Amino acid sequence: MIDQTAIGERILKLKKDLNAIILAHNYQRPEVQDIADITGDSLELSRAAARTEFKVIVFCGVHFMAESASILSPDKTVLLPEITAGCPMADMITVDGPRTTKRDLFRDLYGITFQFADEFTLRDIKRQYPGVPVVAYVNTSAAVKAESDICCTSSNVVKVIESLKEDTVICVPDRNLSAYAAKRTKKKIISWDGFCNVHQVQLTMDDVTHAKSEHPKALLVVHPECPPEVQELADHITSTSGMLRFCKGSPSQEFIIGTEEGLLHRLKKESPDKRFTLLSRKMVCPNMKRTKIESVLTAMEKMQYVIKVPDEIRVKAKQALDRMLEIG
Ligand code: 13P
Ligand code: SF4
Repeated sequence: MIDQTAIGERILKLKKDLNAIILAHNYQRPEVQDIADITGDSLELSRAAARTEFKVIVFCGVHFMAESASILSPDKTVLLPEITAGCPMADMITVDGPRTTKRDLFRDLYGITFQFADEFTLRDIKRQYPGVPVVAYVNTSAAVKAESDICCTSSNVVKVIESLKEDTVICVPDRNLSAYAAKRTKKKIISWDGFCNVHQVQLTMDDVTHAKSEHPKALLVVHPECPPEVQELADHITSTSGMLRFCKGSPSQEFIIGTEEGLLHRLKKESPDKRFTLLSRKMVCPNMKRTKIESVLTAMEKMQYVIKVPDEIRVKAKQALDRMLEIG
């Protein structure tokens, strides 16, 4: 039996010794969220990483998040406790190779006003649409960010697109976030056809029908990474921290939550009198779950795994992230 209290105490001591801050994404395991100094969505964690005065940032999340922290705080040591914790969606786009397999299956499925890119790398699509700015979801590698004009998160994508003077924008890599934005802006969106396994593949319309019939009074709150047909049926669409705010402020007592299961921990903690059901039990991100409380302790004891973005990429990627942070 692992003594979590003892591990927690050792982590607390190491935090002082190392002058470290622990940041955790809302999808992390409950015990990891509970030892974190700040738990939040991608935007909140980027902001926290940018302004922190601690020397060491222990990032409990996935690789691109730790990379963003390193880009924004290059003089800090950024640790990712589990080096294999990646984001498969972020890996669906590369700057100039390897080329991803063509996936035109979903091209006309949603019948909405955006088109999918039919080229294979970010440089290909930029060549195809010269002068069209690239909006990169933070769920991308540092290299993709460096090749983009501005970043966005699920909570500011529309604001970011609207801030650009051009009438057409390229959005990468999530087609569902693009669909969400396309409905809320008059700009033409050229979208990459990437997706999140958790919000796209693990979720079916049957799950939605079933959850709604089981909980007829509940509000359906979903993440913009969910497919457009699921978004259509939702009462509210927002980022993970947006969900926390919405459920807390809503007079409703019951909610069906369409995002990764880790968010339920905070939802229940912050609104203990309300009821929350996960839209599909399969909505679990294995990468987010790699980090255990023991991984955090080991990371701090061994100072592993240091995430450092080389300057030639970092400086350009920072411009895209800073531009986003200025917009809010
Ligand atoms: P948020 O920015 O809403 O926290 O989402 C990040 C993410 O990875 C969603 O799958
Ligand atoms: Fe990536 Fe999806 Fe996991 Fe978020 S939930 S980290 S988008 S795979």
